[in-house]
Amino acid sequence: MKSDTKNNLKIPNHIAFIMDGNGRWATKRLLPRKAGHKEGVKTMKKVIADCVELGIKYISFYAFSTENKNRPKDEVDALMKLIRDNIYVMLKELIDKGVRVVFMGDLSYFSEDIRESLERVIAESADGKKAVVNIGLNYGSRDEIVKAVNECIEEGVSVDEASFARHLYTAQLPDPDVIVRTSGEMRLSNFMLYQAAYSEMIVTKTLWPDFGRKDLESILREYSDRERRFGKI
Ligand code: FPP
Repeated sequence: MKSDTKNNLKIPNHIAFIMDGNGRWATKRLLPRKAGHKEGVKTMKKVIADCVELGIKYISFYAFSTENKNRPKDEVDALMKLIRDNIYVMLKELIDKGVRVVFMGDLSYFSEDIRESLERVIAESADGKKAVVNIGLNYGSRDEIVKAVNECIEEGVSVDEASFARHLYTAQLPDPDVIVRTSGEMRLSNFMLYQAAYSEMIVTKTLWPDFGRKDLESILREYSDRERRFGKI
């Protein structure tokens, strides 16, 4: 954890976002839910740029969960179109500024063209040193843990916490220092259950499409005021 002297804020090494409230944002405006997701992509891009500017090194997002697949077909189709049309375009500028992008989740679910875009993003950003953006796509923490257990069984060796964590999608990432959930819901919803053991949870009522720099700064202020004891006194 380091201090940002400008604003006297403690800057977390890893911040993770559960982007919630897109549907409500759209419904409030009498728009289809997919309009909320579209606006959510714009927020995501701005939040990454703000986090990078503030010096945060790891930034994770829950973009599409294993359970989101069970939403009505037209909403899932709209989300797939959004990912297909935006994943590269949204990230290109950030990749050019030195951001590395990785994905967590079972990517075999996605169509070949989407997987190609994801591969392109991974390949083009591989040398990025400024920050790592980690996007959960068809990600579910229980699914991740079961996969890790099966890999450990296949290896046939006894595991400890460190070796187990190497089988998670997040093997190359530190645990999140802070997990932010927008729209006021107070749950993890199958997000980073193992990695969240000592993460600070911060919930804001702001809906994801409305989330901006002021919300981010207020979260960092709250995080700065938290005393993290990791079980010690
Ligand atoms: C939760 O809001 C949000 C989602 C299920 C999808 C989030 C996805 C994005 C912001 C874009 C992903 C795209 C790319 C390119 C990575 P909700 O629909 O559950 O909102 P509600 O609780 O108000 O109904």
